[in-house]
Amino acid sequence: MDTRIVQKHKLLNRWAHWVNFPVLALMVWSGLLIYWANDIYTLFGHKVVPTWVFDTFNLKKQLATGLAWHFALMWLFSFNGLAYVVYMGWAGGWREVFPNKNSFKEALQVMLYDLKLSKVHPPQKKYNGAQKIAYSSIIFMGAGSLASGLAIYKPAQLGWLTALMGGYETSRLIHFLLTIGYCAFFFVHIVQVVRAGWNNFRGMVTGHELIKGEGA
Ligand code: HEM
Repeated sequence: MDTRIVQKHKLLNRWAHWVNFPVLALMVWSGLLIYWANDIYTLFGHKVVPTWVFDTFNLKKQLATGLAWHFALMWLFSFNGLAYVVYMGWAGGWREVFPNKNSFKEALQVMLYDLKLSKVHPPQKKYNGAQKIAYSSIIFMGAGSLASGLAIYKPAQLGWLTALMGGYETSRLIHFLLTIGYCAFFFVHIVQVVRAGWNNFRGMVTGHELIKGEGA
């Protein structure tokens, strides 16, 4: 059987992806250090971040440390994200990531196939409809975190932005919900990466994938 090595991910995409992972993890960690000082969000009468989380992961009484890390890392998060978006636009990578008119139908096919409710195998290309929707959403979420973060960081100097985001309280809620969104995305992303296997993971590290099969 023939085997061929093909390029899948460009260098800058991979750098942006792997820089983003630890930076975002540290943003969530330092965000929780800040959130501890005023943990107001509840759902059905329960705290969204239960007290045991702060106790277990030593996230208490470190507001100043949290703020310092958060404001230092947000530069890296922003510039890394900006470099990724500019490069995607410039090199045309956005065409592979942004959904088109077939993506929603295809995402449904992928979901049914993954849940073993359908035998129709979704078309195999770089990203299927579900991936396109997830990946482009996460890019917009990154922009949303930056905008809502700036809105609550400088509500006086950037009053127009805070107003645009619906006011201080709404900006804060958006900022928090986006973080929950990253955690949910991360969980599904890892499950899918494990399911997709080593070749796919290695592709995101080296940029290349092995294609096996007739005429490869
Ligand atoms: C341990 C952590 C992570 C691992 C192992 C991982 C792994 C991967 C892999 C293997 C791909 C390629 C998927 C494919 O070719 O089908 C990928 C793509 C992607 N991942 Fe992750 N990922 C991680 C963390 C994250 C995080 C934290 C985010 C953002 C919140 C993220 C966002 C993305 C995006 C947007 C893409 C598409 C990138 C592009 O093509 O430009 N990943 N990831």
